[in-house]
Amino acid sequence: MTVKTIGLIGAGHIGSQLARLAVQHGYEVVVSNSRGPDTLNDLVRELGPRARAGTTEQAAAAGDIVVVTIPLKNISDVPVEPLAGKIVIDTGNYYPQRDGHIAELDSEEVTTSELLQRHLPASKVVKAFNHIYAAQLTTDGEPAGSKNRRALVIAGDDAAAKAVVTNLLDEFGFDAVDAGPLKEGWRIQRDTPGYGPRRTAEELRKDLAAARRYADQ
Ligand SMILES: NC(=O)c1ccc[n+]([C@@H]2O[C@H](COP(=O)([O-])OP(=O)(O)OC[C@H]3O[C@@H](n4cnc5c(N)ncnc54)[C@H](OP(=O)(O)O)[C@@H]3O)[C@@H](O)[C@H]2O)c1
Repeated sequence: MTVKTIGLIGAGHIGSQLARLAVQHGYEVVVSNSRGPDTLNDLVRELGPRARAGTTEQAAAAGDIVVVTIPLKNISDVPVEPLAGKIVIDTGNYYPQRDGHIAELDSEEVTTSELLQRHLPASKVVKAFNHIYAAQLTTDGEPAGSKNRRALVIAGDDAAAKAVVTNLLDEFGFDAVDAGPLKEGWRIQRDTPGYGPRRTAEELRKDLAAARRYADQ
């Protein structure tokens, strides 16, 4: 598939930094947040002519790929219909202090990205960019084949969608390590070995294998 426009639902630390990265690589971006497009004028000005702001519905409709990058507690606000059939990248993490307690996540019956997939049943959710600090998105990327290139984990239930996101990561400067389906996304949740530090693909594979459930930590 040809990706020309990336929609962003959420324009905070990660959303705005992904928008910068996307624009640097020649993509059009449509950014959105909860307060409305008028609150994103400064960001759009900074991003330049490839960027515009919209409502969350407009960002969802405009994106060939759409990134959901908002606090987990608010994912039920994400528009469903305009995302049907689309690849949706989920950067989300669960922080009970911020998100409130969610029983299914506390018991680890589901993963965060499975919750978003449940909310967006006709979309192809791919977990990505959840374990890198926002600022490092634009500092740590390197061309394919660079020695010790940084790698990032993806997870998803749709192989074709994961291939598209793998290509996007590669273009943005990162190797991709596939953790498997969304239900395996817990292997890169907070407090796992791969969550946060700079890792190569080989290191990250070891981190995924070494991850332990919260109950076993
Ligand atoms: N910060 C990081 O380095 C980092 C790294 C990896 C993953 N993450 C994860 O990525 C997610 C986003 O993190 P962040 O640090 O970027 O958060 P953030 O800086 O707090 O930004 C959150 C963004 O989401 C928007 N938002 C909140 N509720 C919304 C809603 N109902 N509809 C539309 N937009 C809404 C906010 O818009 P308003 O301001 O208008 O409400 C804001 O633009 C979190 O799950 C976080 O754990 C963060």
